[in-house]
Amino acid sequence: MPKIIVKKSGPLKGTVKVSGAKNSVLPIMAASLLAQDKCTLEEIPGLRDVDVMAEVLTSLGSDIKKNSDGILEINSAKIDNYEAPYDLIKKMRASFLVIGPLLARMGKARVSLPGGCAIGARPIDLHLKGLSALGAKINLGHGYVEATADKLIGDKIYLDFPSVGATENIMMAASMAEGQTIIQNAAEEPEIVDLANFLNSLGANIKGAGTDTIKIQGVKELGGSKHTVIPDRIEAGTYMVAAAITGGDITVKNALTDHLKPMIAKLKEAGAEIEENGDHVRVRAANGIKAIDVKTLPYPGFPTDMQSQFMALLSVAQGTSVIIETVFENRFMHVSELNRMGANIKIEGHSAVVQGVKALEGAQVRATDLRAGAALILAGLVAEGQTEISDIYHIDRGYVEIENKLKSLGANIERIENHGNDSDYEDL
Ligand code: UD1
Repeated sequence: MPKIIVKKSGPLKGTVKVSGAKNSVLPIMAASLLAQDKCTLEEIPGLRDVDVMAEVLTSLGSDIKKNSDGILEINSAKIDNYEAPYDLIKKMRASFLVIGPLLARMGKARVSLPGGCAIGARPIDLHLKGLSALGAKINLGHGYVEATADKLIGDKIYLDFPSVGATENIMMAASMAEGQTIIQNAAEEPEIVDLANFLNSLGANIKGAGTDTIKIQGVKELGGSKHTVIPDRIEAGTYMVAAAITGGDITVKNALTDHLKPMIAKLKEAGAEIEENGDHVRVRAANGIKAIDVKTLPYPGFPTDMQSQFMALLSVAQGTSVIIETVFENRFMHVSELNRMGANIKIEGHSAVVQGVKALEGAQVRATDLRAGAALILAGLVAEGQTEISDIYHIDRGYVEIENKLKSLGANIERIENHGNDSDYEDL
């Protein structure tokens, strides 16, 4: 199996450019199923998850062309299949996002249940509650969700939790429903705004994305468009932590600082110096890192997708930090791996108590999920000796050329390639 080897590196310095956002491009690709004409998407990150979504769309009848400049052309004018099979859905939970657009476009969708995955149960009840409210009949059986509707009719939908995926699925289906849909307690993530902007560029009528109330006035048909995906705020945050943990000086380009507020605030609180400049941010940390407390929350709170990277950072901070995870019930799998590297972290329910240690030690560790993998790379940058990370296919799902980007900043990091079977991976 391929591995990433990280050796203790000095302070990382230089400039790194962030790629397009994974969590934007996946729903936007799913939304292109609604379009009668060609959609051209720009700033597409070269990620495994993007390839999986392209496979799902192709299996439904979309015609996809990808060029080397990060441009993806999707033509779903002639989609002819409403069934997304287990083999593809199990690879990535986000592929469940095709159910909303398929239902709206074809009146029927049969999509495999995404299956439980590593960071918790991650049910889909809110997705189904929303689609039912729009008039879909939902049947569950044999591991599949079947949704049918002669026509979808707008309604008021209150989400018990501001689920990102449920907000997206409902927004896509409601775009072509009859009348108005109002999503209350909607997710407010920047990726929701990006999806709404894309849908509006196809001819949809969505207002309020980015707030907790989204109003969607259904339209009969959606056309094509050209859209540029927003930068990945989690990738940006990961390089910001790379500067902080190594005591370096990194300028992160193509980073929308407006989307990075919780990470910027928390790094400042920990003692890092930050210069914000609209589309780039410079992080320096010459004087060490102090313990801070972190609580993950839906946007605009601190993102759960940055929790493990901050845990790596705080494991070498001065003092004791408490990290509270409120979004996913089982997102501490990286704790045992960080402890293998000499960290002192104890889990108590949904909290992790991180007692900063003077130094970490390189060890053989496993990337238990995508962001856990990033945390282990960050820890490896400051650990004595060598850290060998396995199961790195998780990392490739969400980070474009992470070892090359870190190398350009002075990191001592290598990928060892060989041919193994990593096809049975799951999304986070
Ligand atoms: C998305 C992101 C993921 C991020 C997460 C939270 C994508 C492709 N993935 O995942 O990187 O970590 O948002 O910011 O965008 N829940 C329910 N019922 C549902 C749906 C969700 O109870 O029907 C719960 C989940 O179990 C979880 C919480 O809501 O505890 C958040 O999940 P959700 O916001 O839906 O995350 P995803 O869309 O899966």
